[in-house]
Amino acid sequence: MSSFSRSEDPVLSDVHLTEVKEQLIDVGYLDGNQIYLSEFEITCPKELLNKLMAVSEISPPKSDIHIDNDGDMVLSRKPVQPRSVDLTRGIIKLQIHHSMETQLRDVGLQIWTGSLVMVDFILDKPDYFLNKHILELGSGAGIPSIVAGMIAKRMTVTDTGESILRLCEMNYQSNRDFIQCPEESFAIQELDWSADEIATIHQPLDCIIACDVVYDNDITDAFFRTVHKIMSKSKPVPTLYMSLEKRLNFTVTELDITCKEYNHFQSCLKQLQTILGSVKVHQFDINSLSNRCDYNRTPQLELWVISEIP
Ligand SMILES: C[S@@+](CC[C@H](N)C(=O)[O-])C[C@H]1O[C@@H](n2cnc3c(N)ncnc32)[C@H](O)[C@@H]1O
Repeated sequence: MSSFSRSEDPVLSDVHLTEVKEQLIDVGYLDGNQIYLSEFEITCPKELLNKLMAVSEISPPKSDIHIDNDGDMVLSRKPVQPRSVDLTRGIIKLQIHHSMETQLRDVGLQIWTGSLVMVDFILDKPDYFLNKHILELGSGAGIPSIVAGMIAKRMTVTDTGESILRLCEMNYQSNRDFIQCPEESFAIQELDWSADEIATIHQPLDCIIACDVVYDNDITDAFFRTVHKIMSKSKPVPTLYMSLEKRLNFTVTELDITCKEYNHFQSCLKQLQTILGSVKVHQFDINSLSNRCDYNRTPQLELWVISEIP
């Protein structure tokens, strides 16, 4: 996909063009954007699949037992429905609500390839996320948070705007069976990087994930201000995992193919490192990851890790 252009132009994610075999069901509108329900297939590591399927057979820990008004035991999670998995192919089927084409201000209603890169990373490196408290920034539809929620202790899923948060809530509800953390530990809440407020984020945090949030320099600045605020207030410093797509453009002024937003991102990374003084930055080789979602892994896709220097 080329770079995002003027704010009123429609934009369409590559994910919706070719890469996901979708069963589109039109389910209505959110803030004037048509919303569809599609099935996203993810190849799941065997141990995780076994764990998800086994939950109905094991006794829940005491803290997960709730008794309803009739005195019956209510589990915090229902067993995964057989229609949501294909055990022979080792596949889970997420039911995801999303838009297809939106204006720039509503891009969070679509699914972006960066989020599928993050799903690959989470499922290939589950130890980084197992029993952790994970914050997602700019979650959009929230697919990585749903997948991380299969192994995390607590999820805080954030974005800005009523319609995106509503979409995220719909996706949480339609995939609840997969999520391990109890309902009260899966928070979906507003966090606008241009507002000065991180106090509502539950602490302590272990890691932060952010997918495809590098596409506009002002938004990138606001994003890094928020990351700086969170990292400077948390001890130990949570590790940030960022997936992104370098959007290349030919510019007449430079007579070359460039990505100004990516260059700006690089300078923000350096600045964060200098200001904090206690973090290192490295690019993770995504070609080492198994391809668990159906998308085209182009050389423009990257994953960056910002972590505390031990
Ligand atoms: C290209 S979308 C990516 C959505 C999702 N992470 C994905 O990869 O599918 C960028 C996301 O950043 C969010 N965003 C933009 N500006 C923001 C801000 N000031 N505060 C919080 N989130 C913001 C948008 O709402 C949108 O969900």
